Amino acid sequence: MREIYPYFTNDSSVGLYSPEDNDIYHSTYGALTEAYEKFIYPANLEEFFINNSEIKILDICFGIGYNTKSFLNFLYSAQIYTNNNTTNNNYIDKIYTDNYNTIKNLHEAIKNKKIKIFIKAIDTDKILAGISPFIICNKNNLPDNYTLPFQNEKIQKLLNKPIKNKIKFYEEINLILMTKIQENYPEIINNSEIFKILRSKKYNEYFAKNYALIKAFYYSIGYIITPLERLNMFLHNIYYQYVSTSYKKALKWLRFNDFTFELKIDDARNELLNDNNLYNFIFLDAFTPAKCPCLWTIDFFKLLYKHLANDGMVLTYSNSASIRNALINAGFFVGKIYTPSSNKFMGTVAVKNKSLIKNELSEYDLSLIKTKAGIFYRDENLDALNDEIIIRHNNDIKNSDLISSSKFIKEYRKQHVKL
Ligand SMILES: C[S@@+](CC[C@H](N)C(=O)[O-])C[C@H]1O[C@@H](n2cnc3c(N)ncnc32)[C@H](O)[C@@H]1O
Repeated sequence: MREIYPYFTNDSSVGLYSPEDNDIYHSTYGALTEAYEKFIYPANLEEFFINNSEIKILDICFGIGYNTKSFLNFLYSAQIYTNNNTTNNNYIDKIYTDNYNTIKNLHEAIKNKKIKIFIKAIDTDKILAGISPFIICNKNNLPDNYTLPFQNEKIQKLLNKPIKNKIKFYEEINLILMTKIQENYPEIINNSEIFKILRSKKYNEYFAKNYALIKAFYYSIGYIITPLERLNMFLHNIYYQYVSTSYKKALKWLRFNDFTFELKIDDARNELLNDNNLYNFIFLDAFTPAKCPCLWTIDFFKLLYKHLANDGMVLTYSNSASIRNALINAGFFVGKIYTPSSNKFMGTVAVKNKSLIKNELSEYDLSLIKTKAGIFYRDENLDALNDEIIIRHNNDIKNSDLISSSKFIKEYRKQHVKL
């Protein structure tokens, strides 16, 4: 069985660790928090929807879908928001303490509008997409004395920090996604490996079991159901279809809006070479450049440029000088993302229309780009292996006359102490 280790991150949403890659897929700080802070809030959806009722999103590296789900979750909370209540969303309430401007403004922008949503999600891993709709989010709190289900001191240490920023995640969103995946990609969700992961006792607490479609899923996989389980499922389905307000709300939301979800299990480079869409927002959530350089090259960014609408925005968590330099050289205007909860600039946005940038790169950021740290990854034919791209990049750095970033930082600090 494929090895993945789920664990609860610091906002009580589930993160994954892969022993094969020896890497985490989600920030221990909070998988859901990161999706909101890096991809959803900086998109300024409340402004976008003032003049638009149609949106196209490209979610590169879908994984278990936090970015797509957070977008839907945010839109859903805005659509059901009423002026007399708070957002009911602890995280938004916490950030926007004085008023609820963002959610209120988004609500105003989409009020009574039927929104046409198209999301294309790409990932090379179909197992992750398959377990995505079952992931638990917003578990009220982490279990007492919670320890990771695997030995990894670094992650364990990070997780020992107190829990921050619990985001209200509407379960309806998982249900909506499940409906779409089950309808259009039964071969993904009915995959026997996914079934084993979902049935595994050791992963039990990380996956929700109570969805209306689970019965069909169990049957289709050839699972032999005991009479008691059969009765439970029968009652469960009745509950969901006829009684559960959450299910009714989700269906109403889905029917009211026009939502298309396209999932591609492919290398993002290949998929985009065969795609003719123009996107309003592109979420780029690849592993770090050291692990997955093929999705951080200047050549891949040129491809993204072709797929971005004139008023569109590419969003990523990366702060790297090399990534920012590659984006600039691919033709974008580049800015950074302000994160209110930590009062820091983290992440990068790339646009064609400069006026969309809220936080410009500083003089320091721009100077860093001109050092060796700014040398970007290359993949001219968009088909190189990650190792090949890394070797090429190391050679480019070795053969460059540019100042090293450490020397630059030292000199910069000296000058700024003098001033
Ligand atoms: C940091 S994780 C993304 C997490 C994800 N956004 C989520 O919400 O779960 C990186 C993802 O990139 C995928 N990936 C790696 N190489 C890829 C490629 N060349 N094209 C598309 N996806 C790729 C991996 O399978 C993994 O799911």
